[in-house]
Amino acid sequence: MPVFQATTSAPVNIACIKYWGKRDNTLILPTNSSLSITLSQDHLRSTTTARADPIFSETKLWLNGKEEDIKSGGRLERCLAQLKKMRKERIEDKNPNTPKISEWNLHVASYNNFPTAAGLASSASGFAALTSSIAALYGLNTFTPSEPAVASPSELSLVARLGSGSACRSLFGGFVAWEVGSSLTGEDSLAIQVAPQEHWPTMHALICVVNDAKKGTSSTSGMQRTVETSALLQHRIKDVVPARMKAIEKAIKDKDFDSFARITMADSNQFHAVALDTAPPIFYMNDVSRSIIALVEELNRVSLAKTGHLVAAYTFDAGPNAVIYTEEENVKQIIEIVVRYFPQSDTNPFPDPFKLFAGKQPKAAPLPEGFNEGVAKVWEVGSVKGLIHTRIGDGPRMRGEDEALLGRDGMPK
Ligand code: DP6
Repeated sequence: MPVFQATTSAPVNIACIKYWGKRDNTLILPTNSSLSITLSQDHLRSTTTARADPIFSETKLWLNGKEEDIKSGGRLERCLAQLKKMRKERIEDKNPNTPKISEWNLHVASYNNFPTAAGLASSASGFAALTSSIAALYGLNTFTPSEPAVASPSELSLVARLGSGSACRSLFGGFVAWEVGSSLTGEDSLAIQVAPQEHWPTMHALICVVNDAKKGTSSTSGMQRTVETSALLQHRIKDVVPARMKAIEKAIKDKDFDSFARITMADSNQFHAVALDTAPPIFYMNDVSRSIIALVEELNRVSLAKTGHLVAAYTFDAGPNAVIYTEEENVKQIIEIVVRYFPQSDTNPFPDPFKLFAGKQPKAAPLPEGFNEGVAKVWEVGSVKGLIHTRIGDGPRMRGEDEALLGRDGMPK
């Protein structure tokens, strides 16, 4: 009997217009549209292998090698039910000779190539990889451009959304919008591609992994509290985000970095303002995060005075890590400024994937002329415990048998 198995990988995405708030907690329907950039899977990705077999006595899931409980009626179950329904209705019911693999139990193994300790949200890439691997297994979409898809990435984004809201945006590469939608049942709350990665290939990202001692409030419970208590959120939903979505889409279409950067920074700041406006207040950024803001603002001030243009945009999710979006030509200078204020430990060398530093570790270079050195203090080693340099990337990819996470026996390798 043939083996019914597929392996795919899916990317991380970082929002420029933030999703924060649900109007339906079960269907994961948002209170506002959002927009993100998909980051390259060459550096950050979740890989998932899914297999269906009539001999499996139950459906099982392993995350980074550890078996996880599948909560009955939980998010994962809802994603699986939706994919099984699509397989049954679109393939099995139409072709009576096709094996009814939607009736079989599944073994699913998933692996993130970045440490959970890095504090990067893994639920987006994780649920996108889960959705894409099962879609591939079920013959719904192989993520191979030459093969027609039974279910489009937007349709699959509806499934990933049931796992974690931000996951729906990881079904596409490039610049991706998640439309708020208006239906009570959620079928119009899906992701669409605003522009592919090739449209603006020079868009790079530098992630500053900030040391974080405390365990923060999860996105799910934090946003629920914000919806219940913040008056500012209502203004954001009604008056701010709709205009910003239009403006940032235009900035992306025009490759207008200045507008893109202004909107991205303003939206990150407003997201953290609504977190602060929550009762009790939620603080995701810390003093290190605020120093990074000060450095980027100062660099932009100097650049604006000299060239009339901005060079970088910071954005922060539900934690203290900074993501700095910038065009390729500016990354080296930004790294040199970051390492000047946040000296790096020798034990954690910068991998330099784009070979900016010719085999050496980045060093603090002279600051640009006119840069006010005093906008931040020089922090102790380890305050920013690592730097990840990456760029805009593509959507889910099919992976070969050699990358499968399940062995011949259907158990994790
Ligand atoms: C701050 O998608 O993790 O990263 O839908 O409850 O799983 P759930 O929340 P999640 O929230 C992400 C919030 C954010 C902003 C964003 O990615 O848009």
